[in-house]
Amino acid sequence: MTDRKNSAAHIAYDDLRGWLTLAERLGEVRAVKGANWQEDIGLAAEAILRAENGPCVVFDEIPGCPKGFRLLLNMFAGVRRNMTLGFPDALSKWELSDGYREAYLANPKLIPHEIVPTGPVFENVQTGDNVDVTKFPAPIWHEKDGGRYIGTGTYSITRDPEEGWLNAGAYRAQVHDAKSVGMVMAAGHHGAQHFEKYKKRGEPMPVAMVLGGDPLSFFYGGLEVPYGTFELDVVGGLRGKPMQMVQGKITGLPFPAAAEIVLEGYVLPDKTRIEGPFGEWTGHYAGGAKEWPVLDVRAIYHRNDPILVGVPPMGAGPDEMARYRAVMRSATIKENLTRAGVPGVAQVWCHEIGAARSFHGVSIKQSYPGHAVQAGTIAAQCGGSAYASKYIVVVDDDVDATNLEHLLWAMIMRTDPVDSIQFLKGTWDSPADPALPPDRRARGDMTHSVAIINACKPYHWRDKFPPSNTPSAEVMQKARAKFGWLLEGE
Ligand SMILES: Cc1cc2nc3c(=O)[nH]c(=O)nc-3n(C[C@H](O)[C@H](O)[C@H](O)COP(=O)(O)O)c2cc1C
Repeated sequence: MTDRKNSAAHIAYDDLRGWLTLAERLGEVRAVKGANWQEDIGLAAEAILRAENGPCVVFDEIPGCPKGFRLLLNMFAGVRRNMTLGFPDALSKWELSDGYREAYLANPKLIPHEIVPTGPVFENVQTGDNVDVTKFPAPIWHEKDGGRYIGTGTYSITRDPEEGWLNAGAYRAQVHDAKSVGMVMAAGHHGAQHFEKYKKRGEPMPVAMVLGGDPLSFFYGGLEVPYGTFELDVVGGLRGKPMQMVQGKITGLPFPAAAEIVLEGYVLPDKTRIEGPFGEWTGHYAGGAKEWPVLDVRAIYHRNDPILVGVPPMGAGPDEMARYRAVMRSATIKENLTRAGVPGVAQVWCHEIGAARSFHGVSIKQSYPGHAVQAGTIAAQCGGSAYASKYIVVVDDDVDATNLEHLLWAMIMRTDPVDSIQFLKGTWDSPADPALPPDRRARGDMTHSVAIINACKPYHWRDKFPPSNTPSAEVMQKARAKFGWLLEGE
């Protein structure tokens, strides 16, 4: 990658409204009035979230909700993807991912957040009897969902009760009633680890659930950041300045001063309610409807004319969530591999078809026996990948690992399945995995296996491996220049 991308990296917005102004300048924002939360907004999500260049849509005048209470869909598509991560140019997804890695991950810095006395999030405060989360336009996203989901574009802030560090994690939230929402924290995630500690102490867990706000903070809420690190301090590092945070009036937990909506309250150690079913990122209702912890909402804070952000998973086929995760998680895993001492990693791509979670391509310049298996194993189980990874395909660097067809071509043509595939067993799975057998799910054994597919030319006879007839870049350029006209009008 060139220095140009590094020097150009600059995040030019501080909050969702600043981001929206920039997205509007790019001509990529559409307004829709009068759509309902019962069905219309979910239908709009089905229509636009899979398109690479779909618009950002802001819904207003949603029946039953106060005028000005808006819902925003589709931050990460079109040219605004680059702007969102701080790049002015129209980069390809791979250039964006590698530029992001170089600019922000190669020499990461944490900038601790700053506590300020007040901020726009306190423009409206409701406590006690006035708490009513049903006034926000939480949609029913998919036809078989068990209720309204207010928390999809969300992250929740908690504090480790023993070690004191803060965490921000994206955990979905269903509206149960005016004063309570669900909080689904899968085992192993940092929010769940905090909750286990509170439970052992028999104490309620204080939570600040942020609904809508700075896109980067939300992305980091849903991205794996090492144990003990506060995601919003990472975001401060990306911006080169501290996040401005206020403290909740009930719990004292910090949250962004410019957040759109924050629900503050407690998750009680022994209180659960039936949550779901919810159409999940695996394209199934695997988690079903079951008991999950509940956030008792003691205070609501929101800006005037607040904007709820919706990031629903759209099931089969790439969606918004897969698009930004592919760009960011691929960069994280590439950085993880490099730091683990794996040399010669050319590309990592967390393919959108696997929700950028479960199917990753890695290309390497092979330089010693076992190199491909080393790269595949670490790519499967490093910090950025361990949760719910399923298939890792390692290819030589003459294959474009970001291109699904090229990756599968190499996998098909350069492997002998019985020798080229090996398995890791007992690895960390998600409750959203539809292939998790019922007995294992019932036991709470959320583990599965990962296939490492070595689709590199076998190292010890790579020089005798038949050459490929894929044209060189020069031949391809010549072919297009001379005969590209034959495709014109196609
Ligand atoms: C939109 C969105 C919704 C998510 N929903 C959940 C969820 O309901 N439960 C969960 O455990 N993880 C969920 N995740 C994944 C976690 O947020 C992610 O793995 C994150 O890194 C976990 O936080 P932690 O790194 O602090 O452990 C979601 C991610 C996104 C982006």
